[in-house]
Amino acid sequence: MKLLNNLFSGKKLKEPIDLSPLKTDMHSHLIPGIDDGVQTIEESVDLITKLQRHGFKKLIITPHIQADYYKNTHEIIFNGLEEVSKAVRKAGISIQLEAAAEYMIDDGFEEKLKSGKLMTLGDNYVLVELSYYDPHPNFSQLLFELQLEGFKIILAHPERYTYWFNDFKKYEELKDRNIFLQLNTISLSGYYTLPVKKMAEKLIDNNMIDFLGTDMHNQTYMQGLEKSLVEKYLDKILSSGKLLNDSL
Ligand SMILES: [Fe+2]
Repeated sequence: MKLLNNLFSGKKLKEPIDLSPLKTDMHSHLIPGIDDGVQTIEESVDLITKLQRHGFKKLIITPHIQADYYKNTHEIIFNGLEEVSKAVRKAGISIQLEAAAEYMIDDGFEEKLKSGKLMTLGDNYVLVELSYYDPHPNFSQLLFELQLEGFKIILAHPERYTYWFNDFKKYEELKDRNIFLQLNTISLSGYYTLPVKKMAEKLIDNNMIDFLGTDMHNQTYMQGLEKSLVEKYLDKILSSGKLLNDSL
């Protein structure tokens, strides 16, 4: 039994990690009712309170913008941000709130790019995601055009794109093209699947991660985040000195 305890204690940290060195979370779905994230203002305030207790000083909320399911506009997002900010202030929570978006690279993205009005984070970063089934056939060209327009690209949760799992070169190509990679912290707890956890760890081992995001959607995600706070790989990435969250 003692041997068994030793084996398990070796895999986890004894104390949960405090996230305050990150300062900023840059990926979440905390504006109620506009995507698959929180659905009520109460849930939003509750999750923001918990994120603040885990150490965050600032949250950049990033609702989905997609051609089919989530046709969010700047106006919808900023109105939602105002509603959340008011409720958070009323609850007496001291945290800075901003909004941007998580753009799906899909059939509608090129038009948004051509409009020249993308919602950005920090110094002209755009947060993008790919489909979990196959990347858009033009995704590579679209990312190139984004960079030509002067945007810096953050690719959300690269560890979740299973179609690249047997082709690690794809990740190296993205890094060679100066695309920033954002890991979902909860991937480290095995929240999605074990292969996703393993890919998250591999990306950390190869020094390829630039940002950490909670991708907070609901209470189940919060439980996943809390489980990940005892993962050794979280400690490894936080102490790497490579993360850019506090520059946003
Ligand atoms: Fe997301």
